[in-house]
Amino acid sequence: MKLTVVGGGSTYTPELIDGFARLRDTLPITELVLVDPAAERLELVGGLARRIFAKQGHAGKIVTTTDLDAGVEGADAVLLQLRIGGQAARLQDETWPLECGCVGQETTGAGGLAKALRTVPVVLDIAERVRLTNPDAWIIDFTNPVGIVTRALLQAGHKAVGLCNVAIGFQRKFAKLLDVAPSEIHLDHVGLNHLTWERAVRIGGPEGENVLPRLLAEHGDAVADDLRLPRPVLDRLGVVPSYYLRYFYAHDEVVRELGTKPSRAAEVAAMEKELLEMYGDPALDEKPALLAKRGGAFYSEAAVDLAASLLGGGGSPYQVVNTYNNGTLPFLPDDAVIETQAAVGGHGATPLPVAPVDPLYAGLIANVTAYEDLALEAALRGGRDRVFKALLAHPLVGQYAYADGLTDRLIAHNREHLAWA
Ligand code: G6P
Ligand code: MN
Repeated sequence: MKLTVVGGGSTYTPELIDGFARLRDTLPITELVLVDPAAERLELVGGLARRIFAKQGHAGKIVTTTDLDAGVEGADAVLLQLRIGGQAARLQDETWPLECGCVGQETTGAGGLAKALRTVPVVLDIAERVRLTNPDAWIIDFTNPVGIVTRALLQAGHKAVGLCNVAIGFQRKFAKLLDVAPSEIHLDHVGLNHLTWERAVRIGGPEGENVLPRLLAEHGDAVADDLRLPRPVLDRLGVVPSYYLRYFYAHDEVVRELGTKPSRAAEVAAMEKELLEMYGDPALDEKPALLAKRGGAFYSEAAVDLAASLLGGGGSPYQVVNTYNNGTLPFLPDDAVIETQAAVGGHGATPLPVAPVDPLYAGLIANVTAYEDLALEAALRGGRDRVFKALLAHPLVGQYAYADGLTDRLIAHNREHLAWA
Protein backbone atom coordinates (compact mmCIF):
# COMPACT_ATOMS: atom_id res chain seq x y z
CA MET A 1 0.00 0.00 0.00
CA LYS A 2 1.31 3.41 -0.96
CA LEU A 3 0.35 6.49 1.00
CA THR A 4 1.27 10.09 0.24
CA VAL A 5 1.24 12.91 2.78
CA VAL A 6 0.98 16.41 1.30
CA GLY A 7 2.44 18.80 3.82
CA GLY A 8 4.69 15.93 4.92
CA GLY A 9 7.39 18.38 6.00
CA SER A 10 5.20 19.49 8.91
CA THR A 11 6.94 19.29 12.28
CA TYR A 12 3.88 17.29 13.30
CA THR A 13 4.61 14.45 10.84
CA PRO A 14 6.63 12.33 13.34
CA GLU A 15 3.37 11.84 15.30
CA LEU A 16 1.85 10.39 12.14
CA ILE A 17 4.91 8.25 11.44
CA ASP A 18 4.90 6.90 14.96
CA GLY A 19 1.25 5.88 14.48
CA PHE A 20 1.99 4.27 11.11
CA ALA A 21 4.80 2.29 12.71
CA ARG A 22 2.83 1.14 15.76
CA LEU A 23 -0.32 0.31 13.81
CA ARG A 24 1.27 -1.34 10.79
CA ASP A 25 -0.91 -4.44 11.16
CA THR A 26 -4.01 -2.30 10.62
CA LEU A 27 -2.45 -0.26 7.81
CA PRO A 28 0.34 -2.14 6.01
CA ILE A 29 2.22 0.66 4.27
CA THR A 30 4.89 -0.42 1.82
CA GLU A 31 5.74 3.07 0.62
CA LEU A 32 5.19 6.40 2.32
CA VAL A 33 5.82 9.59 0.37
CA LEU A 34 6.22 12.91 2.15
CA VAL A 35 5.60 15.84 -0.20
CA ASP A 36 6.43 19.39 0.80
CA PRO A 37 7.70 22.51 -0.97
CA ALA A 38 10.01 23.33 1.98
CA ALA A 39 12.94 21.12 0.94
CA GLU A 40 15.19 21.71 3.93
CA ARG A 41 12.51 21.02 6.52
CA LEU A 42 11.32 18.03 4.54
CA GLU A 43 14.79 16.45 4.75
CA LEU A 44 14.95 16.94 8.52
CA VAL A 45 11.48 15.46 9.02
CA GLY A 46 12.12 12.70 6.47
CA GLY A 47 15.36 11.72 8.19
CA LEU A 48 13.65 11.31 11.54
CA ALA A 49 10.73 9.47 9.88
CA ARG A 50 13.16 6.89 8.46
CA ARG A 51 14.84 6.45 11.83
CA ILE A 52 11.46 5.93 13.55
CA PHE A 53 10.50 3.26 10.98
CA ALA A 54 13.91 1.58 11.32
CA LYS A 55 13.79 1.56 15.13
CA GLN A 56 10.31 0.07 15.16
CA GLY A 57 11.24 -2.50 12.52
CA HIS A 58 8.89 -1.14 9.88
CA ALA A 59 10.07 -2.31 6.47
CA GLY A 60 8.14 0.39 4.54
CA LYS A 61 10.13 2.72 2.34
CA ILE A 62 9.98 6.47 3.03
CA VAL A 63 10.45 8.83 0.10
CA THR A 64 10.65 12.63 0.33
CA THR A 65 9.97 14.91 -2.62
CA THR A 66 9.07 18.50 -3.46
CA ASP A 67 7.38 17.29 -6.65
CA LEU A 68 3.67 16.80 -6.00
CA ASP A 69 2.89 14.94 -9.24
CA ALA A 70 5.70 12.45 -8.70
CA GLY A 71 4.72 12.10 -5.05
CA VAL A 72 1.09 11.16 -5.66
CA GLU A 73 1.79 8.81 -8.56
CA GLY A 74 0.40 5.38 -7.72
CA ALA A 75 -0.76 6.37 -4.23
CA ASP A 76 -3.76 4.50 -2.81
CA ALA A 77 -4.54 7.36 -0.47
CA VAL A 78 -3.38 10.95 -0.17
CA LEU A 79 -3.44 12.69 3.18
CA LEU A 80 -3.65 16.48 3.08
CA GLN A 81 -2.19 18.28 6.10
CA LEU A 82 -0.96 21.58 4.78
CA ARG A 83 -1.02 25.07 6.18
CA ILE A 84 -0.77 27.78 3.53
CA GLY A 85 1.45 30.59 4.78
CA GLY A 86 2.56 28.52 7.78
CA GLN A 87 2.50 29.83 11.34
CA ALA A 88 3.12 33.38 10.07
CA ALA A 89 -0.27 33.44 8.33
CA ARG A 90 -1.83 31.80 11.36
CA LEU A 91 -0.40 34.53 13.55
CA GLN A 92 -2.25 37.08 11.43
CA ASP A 93 -5.52 35.10 11.65
CA GLU A 94 -5.20 35.12 15.41
CA THR A 95 -4.34 38.82 15.66
CA TRP A 96 -6.29 41.22 13.41
CA PRO A 97 -9.81 40.01 14.38
CA LEU A 98 -9.01 41.13 17.94
CA GLU A 99 -8.71 44.72 16.67
CA CYS A 100 -12.43 44.49 15.86
CA GLY A 101 -13.35 42.95 19.21
CA CYS A 102 -13.78 39.50 17.64
CA VAL A 103 -12.10 36.21 18.45
CA GLY A 104 -8.79 35.54 16.68
CA GLN A 105 -8.56 31.83 15.96
CA GLU A 106 -7.28 29.84 13.02
CA THR A 107 -10.46 27.89 12.27
CA THR A 108 -13.28 29.78 13.99
CA GLY A 109 -14.67 33.20 13.06
CA ALA A 110 -12.89 35.64 10.77
CA GLY A 111 -9.49 33.94 11.12
CA GLY A 112 -11.05 30.70 9.95
CA LEU A 113 -12.49 32.46 6.93
CA ALA A 114 -9.08 33.87 6.05
CA LYS A 115 -7.64 30.37 6.28
CA ALA A 116 -10.42 28.99 4.09
CA LEU A 117 -9.79 31.64 1.43
CA ARG A 118 -6.07 30.89 1.33
CA THR A 119 -6.51 27.15 1.42
CA VAL A 120 -9.46 26.07 -0.74
CA PRO A 121 -7.95 26.99 -4.15
CA VAL A 122 -4.65 25.29 -3.33
CA VAL A 123 -6.30 22.11 -2.06
CA LEU A 124 -8.56 21.94 -5.13
CA ASP A 125 -5.53 22.27 -7.36
CA ILE A 126 -3.73 19.48 -5.51
CA ALA A 127 -6.83 17.26 -5.64
CA GLU A 128 -7.16 17.83 -9.37
CA ARG A 129 -3.59 16.70 -9.87
CA VAL A 130 -4.20 13.64 -7.71
CA ARG A 131 -7.25 12.79 -9.83
CA LEU A 132 -5.32 13.17 -13.07
CA THR A 133 -2.63 10.69 -12.07
CA ASN A 134 -4.74 8.58 -9.78
CA PRO A 135 -8.52 8.70 -10.20
CA ASP A 136 -9.13 5.91 -7.68
CA ALA A 137 -7.08 7.36 -4.82
CA TRP A 138 -8.85 8.42 -1.63
CA ILE A 139 -8.17 11.91 -0.34
CA ILE A 140 -8.18 12.26 3.43
CA ASP A 141 -8.36 15.88 4.41
CA PHE A 142 -6.94 17.01 7.73
CA THR A 143 -6.32 20.50 6.33
CA ASN A 144 -8.34 23.16 8.12
CA PRO A 145 -10.97 24.45 8.04
CA VAL A 146 -11.90 20.81 7.49
CA GLY A 147 -15.65 21.34 7.01
CA ILE A 148 -15.25 23.94 4.27
CA VAL A 149 -12.30 22.23 2.59
CA THR A 150 -14.09 18.87 2.53
CA ARG A 151 -17.18 20.49 1.06
CA ALA A 152 -15.04 22.09 -1.66
CA LEU A 153 -13.50 18.70 -2.46
CA LEU A 154 -16.82 16.81 -2.53
CA GLN A 155 -18.49 19.52 -4.59
CA ALA A 156 -15.70 19.18 -7.17
CA GLY A 157 -16.42 15.44 -7.31
CA HIS A 158 -13.35 14.17 -5.48
CA LYS A 159 -13.18 10.93 -3.49
CA ALA A 160 -12.64 12.72 -0.21
CA VAL A 161 -13.33 12.36 3.49
CA GLY A 162 -12.55 15.03 6.10
CA LEU A 163 -10.88 14.15 9.38
CA CYS A 164 -10.40 15.86 12.74
CA ASN A 165 -9.05 14.55 16.04
CA VAL A 166 -11.63 16.13 18.36
CA ALA A 167 -13.88 13.06 18.49
CA ILE A 168 -11.09 10.53 18.92
CA GLY A 169 -9.68 12.80 21.63
CA PHE A 170 -12.96 12.58 23.56
CA GLN A 171 -13.20 8.85 22.91
CA ARG A 172 -9.74 8.28 24.41
CA LYS A 173 -10.32 10.65 27.31
CA PHE A 174 -13.67 9.12 28.25
CA ALA A 175 -12.27 5.60 27.91
CA LYS A 176 -9.57 6.48 30.39
CA LEU A 177 -11.96 8.10 32.86
CA LEU A 178 -14.34 5.13 32.65
CA ASP A 179 -11.54 2.58 32.55
CA VAL A 180 -12.72 0.80 29.39
CA ALA A 181 -11.02 0.14 26.04
CA PRO A 182 -11.34 3.10 23.62
CA SER A 183 -12.93 0.83 21.01
CA GLU A 184 -15.78 0.24 23.50
CA ILE A 185 -16.72 3.93 23.49
CA HIS A 186 -19.24 5.08 20.90
CA LEU A 187 -20.00 8.81 20.85
CA ASP A 188 -23.24 10.44 19.80
CA HIS A 189 -21.22 13.21 18.18
CA VAL A 190 -23.31 15.85 16.41
CA GLY A 191 -22.57 19.05 14.49
CA LEU A 192 -19.98 20.47 12.14
CA ASN A 193 -16.20 20.31 12.26
CA HIS A 194 -15.02 22.31 15.27
CA LEU A 195 -18.67 22.86 16.26
CA THR A 196 -19.75 19.62 17.90
CA TRP A 197 -21.39 18.25 21.00
CA GLU A 198 -21.18 14.78 22.55
CA ARG A 199 -24.81 14.06 23.41
CA ALA A 200 -24.28 10.50 24.59
CA VAL A 201 -21.35 8.25 25.43
CA ARG A 202 -22.33 4.68 24.73
CA ILE A 203 -20.55 1.52 25.76
CA GLY A 204 -20.23 -1.21 23.17
CA GLY A 205 -21.62 0.48 20.04
CA PRO A 206 -24.39 2.72 18.67
CA GLU A 207 -27.07 0.86 20.66
CA GLY A 208 -25.08 0.55 23.89
CA GLU A 209 -25.90 2.02 27.29
CA ASN A 210 -25.48 5.80 27.59
CA VAL A 211 -23.05 6.48 30.43
CA LEU A 212 -22.75 10.24 29.87
CA PRO A 213 -24.83 11.15 32.96
CA ARG A 214 -22.58 8.96 35.09
CA LEU A 215 -19.46 10.34 33.40
CA LEU A 216 -20.54 13.91 34.15
CA ALA A 217 -21.56 13.08 37.71
CA GLU A 218 -18.28 11.36 38.49
CA HIS A 219 -15.79 13.26 36.33
CA GLY A 220 -17.56 16.51 35.42
CA ASP A 221 -14.82 18.68 36.94
CA ALA A 222 -12.05 17.01 34.95
CA VAL A 223 -14.03 17.27 31.71
CA ALA A 224 -14.98 20.93 32.33
CA ASP A 225 -11.39 21.88 33.28
CA ASP A 226 -10.12 20.44 30.04
CA LEU A 227 -12.61 22.47 28.02
CA ARG A 228 -12.04 25.54 30.17
CA LEU A 229 -15.78 25.91 30.60
CA PRO A 230 -17.53 26.14 34.00
CA ARG A 231 -18.78 22.80 35.25
CA PRO A 232 -22.38 24.08 35.77
CA VAL A 233 -22.60 24.83 32.04
CA LEU A 234 -21.99 21.17 31.25
CA ASP A 235 -24.39 20.05 33.97
CA ARG A 236 -27.15 22.32 32.72
CA LEU A 237 -26.73 21.22 29.11
CA GLY A 238 -26.15 17.56 29.92
CA VAL A 239 -23.83 17.28 26.92
CA VAL A 240 -20.11 17.80 26.36
CA PRO A 241 -19.31 20.53 23.83
CA SER A 242 -15.99 20.47 22.03
CA TYR A 243 -13.44 23.01 23.23
CA TYR A 244 -14.12 25.05 20.08
CA LEU A 245 -17.55 25.90 21.53
CA ARG A 246 -15.74 28.00 24.12
CA TYR A 247 -15.19 30.56 21.36
CA PHE A 248 -18.98 30.84 21.15
CA TYR A 249 -20.16 30.26 24.72
CA ALA A 250 -17.44 32.46 26.25
CA HIS A 251 -16.58 34.68 23.27
CA ASP A 252 -16.00 37.95 25.11
CA GLU A 253 -14.03 36.25 27.85
CA VAL A 254 -11.79 34.61 25.23
CA VAL A 255 -11.27 37.92 23.41
CA ARG A 256 -10.14 39.56 26.67
CA GLU A 257 -7.84 36.65 27.40
CA LEU A 258 -6.31 36.62 23.92
CA GLY A 259 -5.47 40.29 24.30
CA THR A 260 -3.21 39.55 27.25
CA LYS A 261 -1.20 36.50 26.28
CA PRO A 262 1.05 35.33 23.43
CA SER A 263 -0.82 33.86 20.50
CA ARG A 264 -0.99 30.11 19.91
CA ALA A 265 0.82 30.71 16.60
CA ALA A 266 3.76 32.26 18.44
CA GLU A 267 3.88 29.35 20.88
CA VAL A 268 3.74 26.81 18.06
CA ALA A 269 6.39 28.68 16.02
CA ALA A 270 8.77 28.52 19.02
CA MET A 271 8.04 24.80 19.43
CA GLU A 272 8.64 24.21 15.74
CA LYS A 273 12.05 25.80 15.91
CA GLU A 274 13.02 23.61 18.83
CA LEU A 275 11.59 20.50 17.17
CA LEU A 276 13.50 21.06 13.93
CA GLU A 277 16.74 21.33 15.87
CA MET A 278 15.94 18.01 17.54
CA TYR A 279 15.03 16.36 14.22
CA GLY A 280 18.47 17.21 12.88
CA ASP A 281 20.07 15.04 15.57
CA PRO A 282 20.87 11.65 13.98
CA ALA A 283 20.60 10.00 17.41
CA LEU A 284 16.89 10.87 17.73
CA ASP A 285 14.79 7.91 16.60
CA GLU A 286 11.40 8.45 18.22
CA LYS A 287 8.80 11.20 18.34
CA PRO A 288 9.93 13.76 20.91
CA ALA A 289 7.80 14.36 24.02
CA LEU A 290 7.48 18.02 23.04
CA LEU A 291 5.05 17.00 20.27
CA ALA A 292 2.50 16.17 22.96
CA LYS A 293 2.14 19.93 23.51
CA ARG A 294 0.62 20.27 20.06
CA GLY A 295 -3.14 20.02 19.56
CA GLY A 296 -3.19 16.97 17.35
CA ALA A 297 -3.35 14.15 19.92
CA PHE A 298 -4.42 10.81 18.41
CA TYR A 299 -4.45 12.26 14.91
CA SER A 300 -2.29 9.36 13.72
CA GLU A 301 -4.65 6.75 15.20
CA ALA A 302 -7.63 8.41 13.54
CA ALA A 303 -5.81 8.64 10.21
CA VAL A 304 -4.72 5.00 10.30
CA ASP A 305 -8.24 3.87 11.19
CA LEU A 306 -9.81 5.88 8.38
CA ALA A 307 -7.26 4.96 5.71
CA ALA A 308 -7.47 1.28 6.66
CA SER A 309 -11.25 1.25 6.27
CA LEU A 310 -11.31 3.24 3.03
CA LEU A 311 -8.69 0.96 1.53
CA GLY A 312 -10.73 -2.11 2.41
CA GLY A 313 -8.79 -3.14 5.50
CA GLY A 314 -9.41 -3.52 9.18
CA GLY A 315 -10.30 -0.11 10.55
CA SER A 316 -13.15 0.42 13.04
CA PRO A 317 -16.59 -0.08 11.47
CA TYR A 318 -17.86 3.31 12.72
CA GLN A 319 -15.76 6.44 12.69
CA VAL A 320 -16.40 10.14 13.14
CA VAL A 321 -15.68 11.84 9.82
CA ASN A 322 -16.66 14.86 7.76
CA THR A 323 -18.91 14.05 4.83
CA TYR A 324 -22.08 15.13 3.01
CA ASN A 325 -25.14 15.50 5.23
CA ASN A 326 -27.46 13.73 2.76
CA GLY A 327 -30.51 14.09 4.99
CA THR A 328 -28.80 13.02 8.21
CA LEU A 329 -29.60 16.35 9.87
CA PRO A 330 -32.96 17.16 8.25
CA PHE A 331 -32.65 20.90 8.95
CA LEU A 332 -29.53 21.19 6.75
CA PRO A 333 -29.12 20.97 2.97
CA ASP A 334 -28.01 17.58 1.67
CA ASP A 335 -24.74 19.02 0.39
CA ALA A 336 -23.73 20.56 3.70
CA VAL A 337 -20.73 18.80 5.23
CA ILE A 338 -21.32 17.54 8.74
CA GLU A 339 -19.04 15.84 11.25
CA THR A 340 -20.72 12.63 12.24
CA GLN A 341 -20.49 8.96 13.07
CA ALA A 342 -20.38 7.05 9.81
CA ALA A 343 -20.04 3.52 8.59
CA VAL A 344 -16.70 3.60 6.78
CA GLY A 345 -15.51 1.15 4.17
CA GLY A 346 -14.21 0.81 0.62
CA HIS A 347 -17.29 2.71 -0.61
CA GLY A 348 -16.53 5.74 1.57
CA ALA A 349 -18.44 7.08 4.57
CA THR A 350 -22.19 6.69 5.15
CA PRO A 351 -23.53 8.68 8.12
CA LEU A 352 -25.39 6.70 10.78
CA PRO A 353 -28.88 7.96 11.59
CA VAL A 354 -28.86 10.79 14.13
CA ALA A 355 -31.53 11.35 16.81
CA PRO A 356 -33.42 14.68 16.55
CA VAL A 357 -31.25 17.65 17.48
CA ASP A 358 -32.38 20.10 20.18
CA PRO A 359 -32.89 23.68 18.85
CA LEU A 360 -30.15 24.79 21.24
CA TYR A 361 -27.64 23.05 18.99
CA ALA A 362 -29.55 22.91 15.70
CA GLY A 363 -29.77 26.71 15.57
CA LEU A 364 -26.02 27.22 15.79
CA ILE A 365 -25.31 24.32 13.44
CA ALA A 366 -27.66 25.77 10.82
CA ASN A 367 -26.20 29.25 11.25
CA VAL A 368 -22.61 28.10 10.85
CA THR A 369 -23.60 25.90 7.90
CA ALA A 370 -24.97 29.01 6.16
CA TYR A 371 -21.70 30.80 6.94
CA GLU A 372 -19.69 27.87 5.52
CA ASP A 373 -21.77 27.98 2.36
CA LEU A 374 -20.99 31.68 1.90
CA ALA A 375 -17.37 31.16 2.93
CA LEU A 376 -16.92 28.55 0.23
CA GLU A 377 -18.49 30.89 -2.32
CA ALA A 378 -15.99 33.57 -1.29
CA ALA A 379 -13.09 31.11 -1.46
CA LEU A 380 -14.06 29.89 -4.94
CA ARG A 381 -15.08 33.17 -6.52
CA GLY A 382 -13.35 35.87 -4.48
CA GLY A 383 -14.45 39.48 -4.12
CA ARG A 384 -14.87 41.84 -1.19
CA ASP A 385 -18.63 41.52 -1.20
CA ARG A 386 -18.57 37.75 -0.80
CA VAL A 387 -16.09 38.00 2.07
CA PHE A 388 -18.30 40.61 3.74
CA LYS A 389 -21.43 38.47 3.39
CA ALA A 390 -19.73 35.39 4.83
CA LEU A 391 -18.60 37.44 7.83
CA LEU A 392 -22.00 39.06 8.30
CA ALA A 393 -23.55 35.58 8.37
CA HIS A 394 -21.11 34.30 11.00
CA PRO A 395 -22.72 34.11 14.46
CA LEU A 396 -19.55 35.53 16.03
CA VAL A 397 -19.67 38.62 13.77
CA GLY A 398 -23.23 39.47 12.72
CA GLN A 399 -23.01 43.29 12.64
CA TYR A 400 -22.17 45.16 9.44
CA ALA A 401 -19.62 47.44 11.10
CA TYR A 402 -17.68 44.45 12.43
CA ALA A 403 -18.00 42.63 9.11
CA ASP A 404 -16.66 45.67 7.24
CA GLY A 405 -13.70 46.13 9.56
CA LEU A 406 -12.86 42.44 9.42
CA THR A 407 -13.21 42.28 5.63
CA ASP A 408 -10.73 45.12 5.16
CA ARG A 409 -8.23 43.52 7.46
CA LEU A 410 -8.67 40.03 6.05
CA ILE A 411 -7.95 41.26 2.54
CA ALA A 412 -5.06 43.51 3.58
CA HIS A 413 -3.31 40.72 5.49
CA ASN A 414 -3.83 38.01 2.88
CA ARG A 415 -3.26 39.79 -0.42
CA GLU A 416 -0.28 37.63 -1.38
CA HIS A 417 -2.42 34.48 -0.99
CA LEU A 418 -5.56 35.71 -2.75
CA ALA A 419 -5.41 35.69 -6.55
CA TRP A 420 -8.38 38.10 -6.80
CA ALA A 421 -7.28 40.68 -4.20
C1 G6P B 1 -6.66 20.28 17.05
C2 G6P B 1 -7.60 20.47 15.92
C3 G6P B 1 -6.82 20.61 14.64
C4 G6P B 1 -5.85 21.76 14.77
C5 G6P B 1 -4.95 21.55 15.97
C6 G6P B 1 -4.08 22.75 16.23
O1 G6P B 1 -5.98 19.09 16.87
O2 G6P B 1 -8.52 19.43 15.78
O3 G6P B 1 -7.72 20.82 13.60
O4 G6P B 1 -5.07 21.85 13.61
O5 G6P B 1 -5.71 21.33 17.13
O6 G6P B 1 -3.05 22.38 17.10
P1 G6P B 1 -1.82 23.35 17.36
O7 G6P B 1 -0.86 22.59 18.19
O8 G6P B 1 -1.25 23.70 15.99
O9 G6P B 1 -2.38 24.54 18.06
MN1 MN C 1 -9.59 19.62 13.85
